[in-house]
Amino acid sequence: MAEPLIQLSHIYKIYMMGDEEVRANDDISLTIDRGEFVAIVGKSGSGKSTLMNIIGALDVATDGEYILGGEDVGEMSDNQLAEIRNKMIGFVFQQYNLLPKLNLLENVELPLLYAGVGTAERRERAMQSLERVGLAEKWKNLPNQLSGGQQQRVSIARALAGNPSLILADEPTGALDSRTSREVLDFFKKLNDEGNTIIIITHDNSIALEARRVVRIHDGKINFDGDVKDYAAIL
Ligand SMILES: Nc1ncnc2c1ncn2[C@@H]1O[C@H](COP(=O)(O)OP(=O)(O)O)[C@@H](O)[C@H]1O
Ligand SMILES: [Mg+2]
Repeated sequence: MAEPLIQLSHIYKIYMMGDEEVRANDDISLTIDRGEFVAIVGKSGSGKSTLMNIIGALDVATDGEYILGGEDVGEMSDNQLAEIRNKMIGFVFQQYNLLPKLNLLENVELPLLYAGVGTAERRERAMQSLERVGLAEKWKNLPNQLSGGQQQRVSIARALAGNPSLILADEPTGALDSRTSREVLDFFKKLNDEGNTIIIITHDNSIALEARRVVRIHDGKINFDGDVKDYAAIL
């Protein structure tokens, strides 16, 4: 049975540039169920990152309603937003955002540390997470001792460590060559097959075609939302 994880209704994000109004998100309504694998696509400046920040509870909308896992995000304080992010969302970024002076295990442990998980359990969960991405034996290494693809896998391990309801990835293959991109995408597919909900933001249609559903943004509005096969047919 489909169970909504994300319910956005009539979301607006409006910036004032002098007296010009920029509608970065302009009346976006979108429901994403648990277990979906969605690509959000659109040209540069279309409003993808704005939408990702709202979905990820990193920012709040100017207007509209956002329900995440049954909770109204628009009503939350900054502390509550931080808590729901930590509890529900694993973030993956284009530039990995690993801390250079921490080893891989310590990097993966970080969100668990913020969530107040004790040392022993933190170690164990972080190590399991590194195992899932095939890098457990390198746990003592520093990030710069790894290839780009391996570093992105560590950042995915970090996203997975907290057992999030949602994995939210902004241009996760943007800094990788095509073969490594393929490996990272295959890994996202595997995670989705295991039941994880995944949203990938990308400007690259070849990445979008690996998802199951595609949502395309243009000038802050959704102008396509459907099955990846129907999306492929209009390219
Ligand atoms: N903090 C901001 N202040 C003013 N305008 C912004 C801000 N953030 C984004 N925008 C504008 O909103 C629009 C959408 O931006 P963005 O969401 O970053 O697009 P994308 O990620 O698709 O490239 C753009 O016109 C951008 O210039
Ligand atoms: Mg962007």
